[in-house]
Amino acid sequence: MGRIPLIGKVGIIWVLMYLALKFLVSPPLPSSVIFMYMSLVTVCVLLYVSVFQDDADAFFGPIKRFIAGDDNEGGLRKLSRVVVFIAIPLFFGFRSYNSNMPSFEPPIQQRVIHPAPPTQFVGLYNPYREDKEHFAENVAAGGKIFFENCVFCHGDKLDGNGIFADGFNLRPANFTDPTTISMLQEAFLFWRISKGGIGLPEESTPWDSAMPRWEAMLSEEDRWKVILFLYDYTGYAPRTWE
Ligand code: HEC
Repeated sequence: MGRIPLIGKVGIIWVLMYLALKFLVSPPLPSSVIFMYMSLVTVCVLLYVSVFQDDADAFFGPIKRFIAGDDNEGGLRKLSRVVVFIAIPLFFGFRSYNSNMPSFEPPIQQRVIHPAPPTQFVGLYNPYREDKEHFAENVAAGGKIFFENCVFCHGDKLDGNGIFADGFNLRPANFTDPTTISMLQEAFLFWRISKGGIGLPEESTPWDSAMPRWEAMLSEEDRWKVILFLYDYTGYAPRTWE
C-alpha cells in the first residue's frame, strides 16, 4: 500500500464502503440510508486525514493543485480540469432535470383482479363437466373455439402472450399462471367470458380491459366448452364448492 498516494487509498476505501453497503447488505438498503452512511464515512475519512499536518498536505495538496493549477503543469492536466468543471454542472443539471420532469406513468391504482361475480352467475356449473362419454369431443370443440377466437390475445400456449398481447395495458390473462383459472370456479370464468372487460365492476376497471363480451358472439354451449378446454389444456382443476 506504501506506493499508493493517500488520496488514492481514501478513494479506494470510500468506493469499497459504498459497494459493500450497496451489494453485501441484505435486505438491500434504501438509497437514502446508503447516503446517510456514506456521509458518515466521508466525515470519518476527512477527520482521519486532517489529524496530522503531513497527511492533510498529502491529501488536500493534489486536490488544491488540480483545482488551482501550477506553473509547470502540462496541457493534459489543464484539459482534464476543464473537462471536470464542465462535467460536474452538466451531471447535476441532468439529474435535477430528470427528477423534475413530469413522468407519464399511469397513476398506481389498486385493481381487483378477481371481483365477485354478479349473483345470477354464482352457482352455475359446467353442463359438459360430467358428460364423461363425450368429454374428449367437447374438449376438442372447446379447443377449436379457443384457437378461432381467443388465441390472438391469450396465446397458443394459453400464457397470455398472443400476437396482440403487447398492445394492451392490462395484458390478457395467463391461464398457465397458478393464480388464475386454477383458483377460480367455472361459473366465474363463464361470467368473465360472457361479459368481458365491459362487464367488470368499478373496482376492477382502473384501466380498460380489452377482453371482449363473448355472449354477443359465442353461444352458451360454446362458452362452456372453451372453459372445459382451458382446464384440460393447462391441467388445472376448477375450484369447486367443497
Ligand atoms: C382482444 C383480446 C382478448 C381476446 C380475443 C380474448 N381475451 Fe380474455 N382477456 C383479455 C384481457 C386483456 C384479460 C385480462 C383483463 C380482464 O380480466 O378482463 C382477459 C381475461 C380473461 C379471463 C379472466 C381470467 C381471470 O383470471 O380473471 C378469462 C377467463 C378469459 N379472458 C377468457 C377468454 C376466452 C375464453 C376468450 C376467447 C373466447 C378470450 N378470453 C378472448 C383479452 C382478450
